[in-house]
Amino acid sequence: MASLIYSFMLSTLILFGIQMAGAQLSSTFYSTSCPSALSTIKSAVTAAVSSEARMGASLLRLHFHDCFVNGCDASVLLDDTANFTGEKTALPNNNSLRGFEVIDNIKTTLEKNCPGVVSCADILTVAARDSVVALSGKSWTVPLGRRDSTTASLSAANTNIPGPNLDLSGLISSFSNKGFTAREMVALSGGHTIGSARCVVFRNRAHNETNIDASFATSLRSICPTSGGNNNLAALDVTTRDVFDNAYFTNLKSFKGLLHSDQELFKNGSADAIVNTYSANSATFFTDFGNAMVKMGNLSPLTGTNGQIRTNCRKTN
Ligand code: HEM
Ligand SMILES: *[C@@H]1O[C@H](CO)[C@@H](O)[C@H](O)[C@H]1NC(C)=O
Ligand SMILES: *[C@@H]1O[C@H](CO)[C@@H](O)[C@H](O)[C@H]1NC(C)=O
Ligand SMILES: *[C@@H]1O[C@H](CO)[C@@H](O)[C@H](O)[C@H]1NC(C)=O
Ligand SMILES: *[C@@H]1O[C@H](CO)[C@@H](O)[C@H](O)[C@H]1NC(C)=O
Repeated sequence: MASLIYSFMLSTLILFGIQMAGAQLSSTFYSTSCPSALSTIKSAVTAAVSSEARMGASLLRLHFHDCFVNGCDASVLLDDTANFTGEKTALPNNNSLRGFEVIDNIKTTLEKNCPGVVSCADILTVAARDSVVALSGKSWTVPLGRRDSTTASLSAANTNIPGPNLDLSGLISSFSNKGFTAREMVALSGGHTIGSARCVVFRNRAHNETNIDASFATSLRSICPTSGGNNNLAALDVTTRDVFDNAYFTNLKSFKGLLHSDQELFKNGSADAIVNTYSANSATFFTDFGNAMVKMGNLSPLTGTNGQIRTNCRKTN
């Protein structure tokens, strides 16, 4: 009997220990603490995307740039202060990341309805999924329970976020550093089926590269001259910019990738086969993308008593 009680106590302790160490997220995390959390985020994202389709792309990218820099902890949302430099002015982010006001509005509503409960990191994760859905993509279930950081890292943002001049091996190793396979890297790159990029990141491709469709290059040069117009925009998916579909991959097959890094995925290299698969079968792309997004959302979350639930996503409590 004593040993039975003892083994019960031991297993309870072990279970409790796992929970505490618990990097385990759960899709029902807010079911009792804030039942309106998911519907609040969804309706705000849907409204923002219907007033400006690009916002869906911007919110998806915000989550990516959060997770690749020391995990999905909303570090990307922290404003610079007199004493503190955050990630917003890192090279991949400066004058380029957007969507912060949408996240602020969601946070304000949630703080009214469930004060101190829903993290900014979870808002970013759910908003990324809802953005894809608002632009006609397929949904996936989002594990929840992340908490928010009290720090950010400008230098990690500058080194961990892949840049548009990477070649295939650089892209593979950038994602492999975060635990992703080459196939998952290609699936996640399919995020470029929505949204836009600035001239400054595709100028060299428009003027100097040879594995580019000739008339596509001509139209890009008119948007992006050899000098000036750095902030002029072009669609990442020239076919259907505002629809989350598999056209990004079809474009690559006709050498209409906007970024150097996009076209690297289809260049008689090891990723060609994956591009062919996603271009031929959108259901396979949607499934792989959803699974890879869940995996990205699981990058080093703060859980349990680590971090905090910020009341304002732009600053620590
Ligand atoms: C594979 C490596 C990647 C590279 C090299 C890359 C690079 C870039 C660049 C240079 C831009 C344009 C930025 C600007 O105009 O300043 C951009 C935009 C964008 N990226 Fe990526 N990216 C990558 C992966 C991803 C991933 C994994 C996602 C999401 C799953 C993503 C989603 C987006 C979206 C949606 C936009 C458009 C944002 C908007 O219109 O506001 N990217 N990316
Ligand atoms: C900056 O640091 C000083 C000294 O630690 C502190 O008094 C001040 O409140 C800080 N300012 C901000 C904006 O955090
Ligand atoms: C960020 O952009 C602003 C406005 O264009 C510019 O003044 C600043 O130098 C940039 N910061 C960095 C770190 O590139
Ligand atoms: C094209 O490549 C040359 C040589 O690398 C470089 O000097 C030039 O700036 C590039 N042109 C553009 C528009 O990027
Ligand atoms: C790929 O290889 C084929 C056959 O060797 C060649 O015709 C084609 O130009 C190559 N494409 C690229 C992008 O290198």
